[in-house]
Amino acid sequence: YVIGVDLGTSAVKCLLLDRAGNVVKEAERSFSVMRPAPGYSEQDPDDWVRGTVQALKELSTVEGDVKGISFSGQMHGLVLLDGKGDVARPAILWNDTRTTNQCRFIEETAGLHELLRVVKNRPLEGFTLPKLLWVKENEPQLFEHASVFMLPKDYVRYRLTGEIATDPSDAAGTLLLESRTGEWSKNLLDLFGIPVALCPPILPSDEKAGNLNAETAEETGLIEGTPVFTGGADNACGAIGAGILTPGDTMCSIGTSGVIVSYEEDADVDYEGALHHFHHAVPGGYYAMGVTLSAGHSLSWFRDTFAAGESFDHLLQEAATVPPGANGLLFTPYLSGERTPHADALIRGSFIGMDASQTRGDFVKAVMEGITFSLKESVEILRSKEKTIDTIVSIGGGAKSDAWLQLQADIFGAEVVSLVTEQGPGLGAGILAATGSGWFSSIEEAAETFIRYGKRYSPGAEAAAAYEKVYTIYKQVYPNTRLINE
Ligand code: XUL
Repeated sequence: YVIGVDLGTSAVKCLLLDRAGNVVKEAERSFSVMRPAPGYSEQDPDDWVRGTVQALKELSTVEGDVKGISFSGQMHGLVLLDGKGDVARPAILWNDTRTTNQCRFIEETAGLHELLRVVKNRPLEGFTLPKLLWVKENEPQLFEHASVFMLPKDYVRYRLTGEIATDPSDAAGTLLLESRTGEWSKNLLDLFGIPVALCPPILPSDEKAGNLNAETAEETGLIEGTPVFTGGADNACGAIGAGILTPGDTMCSIGTSGVIVSYEEDADVDYEGALHHFHHAVPGGYYAMGVTLSAGHSLSWFRDTFAAGESFDHLLQEAATVPPGANGLLFTPYLSGERTPHADALIRGSFIGMDASQTRGDFVKAVMEGITFSLKESVEILRSKEKTIDTIVSIGGGAKSDAWLQLQADIFGAEVVSLVTEQGPGLGAGILAATGSGWFSSIEEAAETFIRYGKRYSPGAEAAAAYEKVYTIYKQVYPNTRLINE
């Protein structure tokens, strides 16, 4: 067996996979997000470790050898260790938006043109460099005594093995990785007064980063010395698990956040910062990505606020018979600002067009549509660069419902393909472990064995036309509602 660990924002999910890519057992532990102030989003890294160890323990009850473990992790989060190797403060997560001033400072100091040339991304609140600068400014003592920073999955791996490392796909999300060389940018580190020693070494995603230590072996029942492979960013691992491995391959993932990921073979393409451009977890590859910050989160927020105790299945059922356009109701999913295409941490969401005749099902449908419209904006940016996006592989919570998959096809105007067993980024992490442990000679070969495509959904002419109309109105909501914040 191999194990893929998917460290998400709402839970850690571990998959035990056999050589044919079958999920033999899975185990999950959830954790919560702390929001100590508006715009803040933090987690205790030790909660991730506890959850992972408990989930691994559950998997170890299956008889048989585990040949390797690898990771997929929520991106960008800042984990800072002190001089003793302990966590110095709660992790600041990817959806934390406290760093608008630091982003402005980065852009003014380095210059947008230079940033787009060197790291191929514009500074956004979620990225790690602005978080490092926030700590430097607001908690200087802590910054001064820090020994290393790392990304969320890297911390869990460190606690399981004692070794410190990161991989290119997660390093790329810091805004400190040179796009062409795949190395930390000495110039940017100097410019912002960040000691090079704070940066973890970078290892390929399918390379061994360490071995399971005695303590974790004892706690989990797994064998001491089991090889642990570096792993990758969740969107890169999701992309591997969805077979996004050659130019033109495109995926939609709806989890807490929602993303559109499209494979890029080099660092030459220029989206002028409108999309993120990151290293893939496949050596030598890249991908362009648009992000909706509150995708699945919009639906879970709606449920927790207005339908506590109801299951998602039940809510989706209420929405099942609602026609395209949700009987006049429109939702924009900007619950904590928006990344693509607005790069605006201050914008907030809205329901527009409420009518006394509307039901809860209409609201659920409007939320699903709003999330998907937001992702369509990323698809449109790709298309504006002459990319043909006629097929999109869909993963994540949004791919668990037939109705939502059909809605994606209708709104994106593309064929949408699901996977037979939808396991999200955990499958990509499993593929990295399977490749690292020598079962396959390449990630591509492993993917061929592990990935099984399922049903296809074609856009319906009538629904697509109805959505085209609503989308035109959707796009006008942002410029008009942003005035509220000015
Ligand atoms: C991507 C991003 C999110 C997280 C979710 O840039 O911030 O998709 O990776 O874990």
